[in-house]
Parts: sequence; C-alpha cells; structure tokens
Amino acid sequence: MTMLQLVIAFLLAIELAAGSRLLKSTSNPSICETIVQGYGYPCLQDTVTTEDGFVLGMQRIPHGINDNTDNNERDPGAATFVMNTPSQSLAFILADQGYDVWLGNTRGSDASLGHISLSNQDKEFWNWSLEEHGKYDLLAMLQLIYNTTGSRSHFIGYSQGTTIGLVGLTQPKVTSLLSSVVLLNPVAFLKNITPPFTIALAHSYLEKFLFSVGINEFNPAKGVVAGELKEVCKIQGIDCSNVLEVAMGMYLKQCNNAYINRTRFPYYLQFLPQSTSTKNLALYTQMIRSGGFDRYDYGSPADNMKYYNQTTPPAIDFSTYPPNLPLLLVTGGEDGLADVPDVQRLLDSLVNCNVTHVFRPECGHADFVWGTNAHIDVYVDVANFLKSIPK
Ligand SMILES: *[C@@H]1O[C@H](CO)[C@@H](O)[C@H](O)[C@H]1NC(C)=O
Ligand SMILES: *[C@@H]1O[C@H](CO)[C@@H](O)[C@H](O)[C@H]1NC(C)=O
Ligand SMILES: *[C@@H]1O[C@H](CO)[C@@H](O)[C@H](O)[C@H]1NC(C)=O
Ligand SMILES: *[C@@H]1O[C@H](CO)[C@@H](O)[C@H](O)[C@H]1NC(C)=O
Ligand SMILES: *[C@@H]1O[C@H](CO)[C@@H](O)[C@H](O)[C@H]1NC(C)=O
Repeated sequence: MTMLQLVIAFLLAIELAAGSRLLKSTSNPSICETIVQGYGYPCLQDTVTTEDGFVLGMQRIPHGINDNTDNNERDPGAATFVMNTPSQSLAFILADQGYDVWLGNTRGSDASLGHISLSNQDKEFWNWSLEEHGKYDLLAMLQLIYNTTGSRSHFIGYSQGTTIGLVGLTQPKVTSLLSSVVLLNPVAFLKNITPPFTIALAHSYLEKFLFSVGINEFNPAKGVVAGELKEVCKIQGIDCSNVLEVAMGMYLKQCNNAYINRTRFPYYLQFLPQSTSTKNLALYTQMIRSGGFDRYDYGSPADNMKYYNQTTPPAIDFSTYPPNLPLLLVTGGEDGLADVPDVQRLLDSLVNCNVTHVFRPECGHADFVWGTNAHIDVYVDVANFLKSIPK
C-alpha cells in the first residue's frame, strides 16, 4: 500500500455529496464563515440527530448572492462543492439559479463528530461504514430538510457520495423524500478499477492490521495510520509529501483542457484530510477485492450468519429502487474508479429505473469536481436535468 492508495480511499471518503467531508466546520471558524460567507452568500448552520445517535452538522445556502426571495419558493438541493470560486462551484451555481442548497456532512467528518452518548474518542463511535451513511445519515438530513422546507430534495452525489446515495435508494423512507438523484462518477462496482495503488491497498489488507492494533478511526494524517502510509510511500518510491498533487495527478484527465488550479492547493489543504472509520475503509477494500456491491463482510460465515442470516454478505438490492424516480448519471471515459465496465454493470442493474446517462469520454474522476472546467463540462447537465424534473 502507499500514500496514494490511501488518498484514493480517502478521496472516496471525502468527496461526498451527502457528505462533503471537504468542509471542515465544527472547528472554528465554520465552513459558513471560512468559505460561503466570504463570497457574500448567505449561510446557515444546523444539526440533526440520526436514529442511531450521531449528531450531524449541515450548512445551508438558502439563496444566491443577488437574491432575497422567500426560501419557501425554492427547491432544496444538496450539493457538495464550494471549494472553487463561486462561478465554478456547484453549490453556488445552484444557489444562484434559485435552489436552496444544503451541504451534508456524514458522521466522522469534522462537522459531524457529535453523538448523543459516545465520544469520538470511543472505539464504538467509529463502528460504521458507508452503509450507515446511506441508511441513517442521509435519511436524517433529508428529514431535516423536509421538516424545515416542506419539500423533497434533489440529491447530488460525487464519488463516495454516490455510493451512499445508492445504498440510501434501497430505503423507502429515503426515496420518499427525494425528487431526483444525480450521481457524478458513480462508485458501486469496483471490479475493474485501474489505479495500481488503490488495487494494491485493497490487497494489502491494511484494515486488518489497523483493527488488530485497535485503530478504528482512519485518518491519513493521524498517528499510526500516517506512519504506516509514510513507510509505504518510502517502500513504493512515491513522493507523498503533497497528498493532493499525488491524488489529482492520478485522477484528473484534463478533459476539455481543464486543469487543477494548483495555486489553490494550500486552500484545499485547510480542509483535508478528514477521518472516516477503518470499517468504512474495510468495506471499500472488500468491494475492490470481491468486485461486488455487497454489504459489509463480517469476515466469517458464522458472523455473517449472525447479521444477515446467510454465510456471505448480501448484495445491495437494486430491485427495491423506485422505477419513476429520475436518476442522472454523469460518467467519464477516463475515470479509473467509476470505470466504464463497472459503470456499465451499474447501468445494467438500473434497467428498471428512470435513468438519464451523460457520458464524457475524455473526463477522469477528479475532473467533475476539481477541474477548472467542471462548471462547463458537468454542472450545465446537472442544472438542465434538475430543471426537467416535474415539480
Ligand atoms: C458494531 O455494530 C454492530 C452492528 O452493526 C454491532 O453488532 C456490534 O456489536 C458493534 N460493535 C461494537 C464494538 O460496538
Ligand atoms: C421531522 O418531523 C417529524 C414529525 O414531526 C419528527 O418525527 C422528526 O423527528 C423530525 N425530524 C427531523 C430530523 O427534524
Ligand atoms: C485559481 O486560484 C486562484 C487562487 O484562489 C484564483 O485567484 C484564480 O481565479 C483561479 N483560477 C481559475 C482559472 O480558476
Ligand atoms: C433465515 O434463512 C432461512 C433459509 O433461507 C429461512 O428459512 C429463515 O426464515 C431465515 N430466518 C430469518 C430470521 O430471517
Ligand atoms: C423520468 O425522469 C424524467 C426526468 O429526467 C421525468 O421528466 C419523467 O417524468 C420521469 N418518468 C417517469 C415515468 O416518472
């Protein structure tokens, strides 16, 4: 394994749609203060408690910069991206188009480290994976939005955010609160991913080592994890001193001449890296090793029996998805994580759903968020799709 492998797992973990882990907000000052209000946009903070006790932070951009109309006339959206300038960032673009934009932060991210009875220093606090993000975190956020605005939401997910969305869609409680779903670089099947480091990470069973030494919080910048990764970078001969540089070099394909704005790296790095659970890392590495989009593997037939009444973890059941809910998938031909054959398998699994697929042959995984042209390449499609949804 290497730093890069880690970064990949970690990118999956941070670039959430329902969980914008890029956004650091419990610590002072909050994302509202550090980013959103700095550009002159309104920003509100809220919290919501999940059924299993996690206290999640949310930020809300109720309207655009030149607009004071009543919030109740607006559609709530959920968007993750406020990292680039307003004209380049999806959250601001949608706010300016009249959406009420809510930014979600999944459990374990800096904005969502609260719990009704546990401390984030407790091992049990980190006993979850993206399954709980999809089942509990997403539901709680959608309920808060519904209770506040009286409207169902459009969900917009990127990378791990899509995986969470795809888990959430199996829950009728979740889908009843959605009017549409946008999946940018959807990650469900990981059988044909190409980044050698990610693959090597999965096959290194790092999670087993971490569990064995009692590390349930996975943060690439912290303690043993950081040490392990540094060591591995050394062994693999990779310069991992700039996490973003390493990761972006791998994932940005510069479609339509987009590039990563390197002068913003110090700014991005203020918000990185954040924690996820070792269990979440484990679920991803399991998905990579098995090639399936399955539930968490407890590691032995007997333990799986206990949780699932079968010896192997069940697959995520696409047949439960509502057939009419509009889904937009935007995918890239050069994406090594949401790669073409795995996306095709996902599309085949969604045959009974109402899917629109936009394919960008020249784009890679990072282009859709970090590329300087994402607002041209991708967000126009997103905005047009949202406009097409019957109210
Ligand atoms: C972790 O969560 C599972 C349910 O998902 C539960 O059965 C198990 O006891 C929990 N383990 C710890 C250490 O809290
Ligand atoms: C939303 O309102 C319902 C019904 O009043 C309530 O049961 C639920 O706890 C509320 N949830 C949130 C997240 O506000
Ligand atoms: C790149 O980032 C710098 C610093 O944040 C900013 O001033 C500039 O407008 C950005 N350039 C582009 C093309 O987005
Ligand atoms: C467990 O699976 C068996 C065989 O598939 C089935 O007969 C039984 O009803 C299941 N038990 C529970 C508790 O779901
Ligand atoms: C499918 O989604 C489109 C939006 O992409 C929407 O206009 C249409 O009404 C949906 N179809 C059904 C049968 O719900």
